[in-house]
Amino acid sequence: MYTKNLLKTGEAHARTGDLYETPPGALDAVLERLPPAAPLWEPFPGEARRSTQHMRARGRDVVNKAEGASDDFWEQPPLPERVMLTNPPFSQKVRLFRWLQEHPAQRAVLLIPVEALQTAYLDALLTARGVRPALLYFTRRLKFLEPDTGEPLRRPFPYGVGWLEIPPAGGEPLLPALSPATA
Ligand SMILES: C[S@@+](CC[C@H](N)C(=O)[O-])C[C@H]1O[C@@H](n2cnc3c(N)ncnc32)[C@H](O)[C@@H]1O
Repeated sequence: MYTKNLLKTGEAHARTGDLYETPPGALDAVLERLPPAAPLWEPFPGEARRSTQHMRARGRDVVNKAEGASDDFWEQPPLPERVMLTNPPFSQKVRLFRWLQEHPAQRAVLLIPVEALQTAYLDALLTARGVRPALLYFTRRLKFLEPDTGEPLRRPFPYGVGWLEIPPAGGEPLLPALSPATA
C-alpha cells in the first residue's frame, strides 16, 4: 500500500527510484559479462526477491546476506568473497559509496544513475581504493518493474543508468572498462 501511494503521488524522484525493480534484460546484460562461477551477493533484494530469483534461474550462486545476519543491509557484515551485484535504493547511494570506502575488500557492481559518475564521493572512493571503475551502460532508457506487480512501468526511467563496477582495493574490474548494452 505504501508503495502504491508513493508511486501514485510521484514523490521526489529519489524516493521512487528506491523501489523500482530491475528489468530481467538489464540483469542478463550484466550476468553475461561476469564470470559464470563468480558468487554473488544481492543485498537489496526487495520483498518479492525477483532479481535474486532471476539470477538463480540463470544458474548463479546468489545470497541476500550472511547467514544469520539482519535483513537490514546497514546492519550486515561485508561478504568480500562474493561480488555485490545490486540495484540499490537510489536515495541511499551516497551512504552506500561511503560504506564501500569503509569496506575496501568488497567488490561491487551497482545499477546507478550515470550522474553518479561525476560526484566527489565516487571520486573519493576510487582514489582511496586506487582502482579504475568499469561501466556497462544502456543505449536506451530502462523500464523498471513496478514492485507490487512485477510489471514493467509504462514510462522509461527519466535518467540514464548503468552497471558501475568498483573493484576491491588495488584490484581490476571483471567487466570490460566501458561497454554498451541493450535490455
Ligand atoms: C531499487 S529497489 C531494487 C530491488 C532489487 N535489488 C532489484 O534489483 O530489483 C531497492 C530495494 O532495496 C530495499 N531496501 C531499502 N533499504 C534497505 C535496507 N536498508 N536493507 C535491505 N533492503 C533495503 C527496498 O525495499 C527495495 O526493494
